[in-house]
Amino acid sequence: MNLMKNKVADYIITGQWAKKAYQEAQMYGKANAIASSADKTFSYIPDCSDLPISEDADYVYICENNTIYGTKFKELPNTKGKTLVADVSSCFLSEPVDVTKYGVIYGGVQKNIGPAGVVIVIIREDLITEDVLEGTPTMLRYKIHADAKSLYNTPPAYGIYICGKVFKWIKEMGGLEAMKAHNEKKAKILYDFLDESKLFKGTVEKKDRSLMNVPFVTGNEELDAKFVKEAKEAGFENLKGHRSVGGMRASIYNAMPIEGVEKLVEFMKKFEAENM
Ligand SMILES: Cc1ncc(COP(=O)(O)O)c(C=O)c1O
Repeated sequence: MNLMKNKVADYIITGQWAKKAYQEAQMYGKANAIASSADKTFSYIPDCSDLPISEDADYVYICENNTIYGTKFKELPNTKGKTLVADVSSCFLSEPVDVTKYGVIYGGVQKNIGPAGVVIVIIREDLITEDVLEGTPTMLRYKIHADAKSLYNTPPAYGIYICGKVFKWIKEMGGLEAMKAHNEKKAKILYDFLDESKLFKGTVEKKDRSLMNVPFVTGNEELDAKFVKEAKEAGFENLKGHRSVGGMRASIYNAMPIEGVEKLVEFMKKFEAENM
């Protein structure tokens, strides 16, 4: 609503959050789906080097890391000069980001930063204007929040306090370069195992694999259910894939230590030996 001045926006549909954002935008203007990976159950990121960007598009939207399907944009789309808007909810602070390439970066903090209830928005200053889509509620105008230094309404102070603790922790860990190395090391342990396993396999095209969310299957739904059940009994939480895709998904956000992934792979090896 803040950006849709021509009432035109282009969406790249790479999963459920992108689809929801696209559907929502249709309520306010002409939203165009200019690329999609729905044809292969969102298991890849489409080639975004030369998309049919609308001439009058107010912005181009991506969901940078697709939480449910486990894909990530390794390269940002060529927006042909249009403002890039990215939902980074599930990859925020997992690695360094060049903010100059975006118009708006936004995300819920509940994956890598703090408790649900806080949203962070990084917006290019020239995009903070009074010239917003007619009917945009005061509460939803970025200028109101920017002018009030994010204190227009009562802030969720406890949630923000926890985020502050996490920012300090990330700094102590060595900052975002160190988080990236840490996350790559973790993800590699799991992906390497998936690539050599005879029972489990990853569901995402290798080049588009997320560092944060790793979906995998056995190819047999009953065996998947057995794995989720036995894993839970062994102390591994939340390994069931999203209800819309089934299978399994290991979310290995910043807070997951390397030992957590090592233990999971150990458990998967044992399960494989017992069930092949
Ligand atoms: C990429 C992405 N965007 C948006 C959301 C929605 O967040 P919320 O439930 O806080 O609205 C999620 C939640 O998992 C997400 O992963």
